[in-house]
Amino acid sequence: MTATPARKARHAETVGEATVEFAADVVAGLKARQKRIPSKYLYDTAGSLLFEEITQLPEYYPTRVERGILTENAEAIASLLPAGSALVEFGNGSSAKTRIVLGAATELSAYVPVDIAAEFLEEQAETLRDEYPSLDVLPVAADFTRAFDLPASLRTMQRIGFFPGSTIGNFDPPDAAGFLRHAGQSLGRGAVMVVGVDLIKNEAVLHAAYNDAADVTARFNLNLLARINRELDGDFDLDSFEHRAFFDRSNSRIEMHLVSRAAQHVSIDGHSFDFAEGETIHTENSYKYTVESFRALAREAGWRPMTVWTDSDGWFSIHVLANEADTANQPGPRRL
Ligand SMILES: C[S@@+](CC[C@H](N)C(=O)[O-])C[C@H]1O[C@@H](n2cnc3c(N)ncnc32)[C@H](O)[C@@H]1O
Repeated sequence: MTATPARKARHAETVGEATVEFAADVVAGLKARQKRIPSKYLYDTAGSLLFEEITQLPEYYPTRVERGILTENAEAIASLLPAGSALVEFGNGSSAKTRIVLGAATELSAYVPVDIAAEFLEEQAETLRDEYPSLDVLPVAADFTRAFDLPASLRTMQRIGFFPGSTIGNFDPPDAAGFLRHAGQSLGRGAVMVVGVDLIKNEAVLHAAYNDAADVTARFNLNLLARINRELDGDFDLDSFEHRAFFDRSNSRIEMHLVSRAAQHVSIDGHSFDFAEGETIHTENSYKYTVESFRALAREAGWRPMTVWTDSDGWFSIHVLANEADTANQPGPRRL
């Protein structure tokens, strides 16, 4: 695609707006009593590449196990994607799992990956266009927690949602229900959505997955501070923070934090912040469900649970949901 001056100007404007929002969220989050930064900011291009490395780690079972379930059930998933339909994926990353589905769904017309990591998304879309020349690959760089437009060409197509990676676990459960509700409005009444959901399991397995021996998850977490330094004129000393991840059983979630190794002072975008020794920035939650607790959440959000597949250890689940919410008055692609 040629970058015309108008396209370049629009891109610069979008990048400018995103940076202003990033700065506002970081400053507000670091002023809170429990310092926090929304996990979506972990994914710039460097963060997306580090997440790809995480997916290859021996300890990171979610990718390995989910890929196994998808491979085993690829034909069944493909049968949900009729000829001429569009697959809308939320948070596609490298689309590695999508390829398992695309290999079986040969009649699909369009693939719409929606991701916040705009540069990485565009690179992945280019690769996919080369690999699947007859598929219309229509990337949408957007924050899926906000309103965004689906491509107009989807208006007349049946739309199927795909949300693997247990990214839904990064939402607090009420926000996960809110996301599913809005996704239903966007995909339309009668739509089907395939969602990957990580399950509660042995704590040692969970702990190892987020504390790998090669420290890739630590680098992924610390990249957030490097990103603040790069984009928001921050002066974080990365060596004086360390990664911490633990399972909070009462909330059924892995919490990821960055811990200050010493009392220190950090300046960002003209604001200054004090850290006590041991004080943390909460950077991510990853909620774990049971099959039934996730089905209940989906029902609450207007989706009827249909098939669910799990692996033989019961570590990960893939749910097929049907949209039952009344979207009769909202026929076209809706803003989320
Ligand atoms: C856990 S990774 C999963 C990647 C891939 N789906 C997989 O299963 O390996 C989460 C993905 O969602 C994207 N993401 C996270 N928060 C987002 C948001 N608010 N809006 C859009 N994309 C988001 C990230 O950029 C990343 O690609």
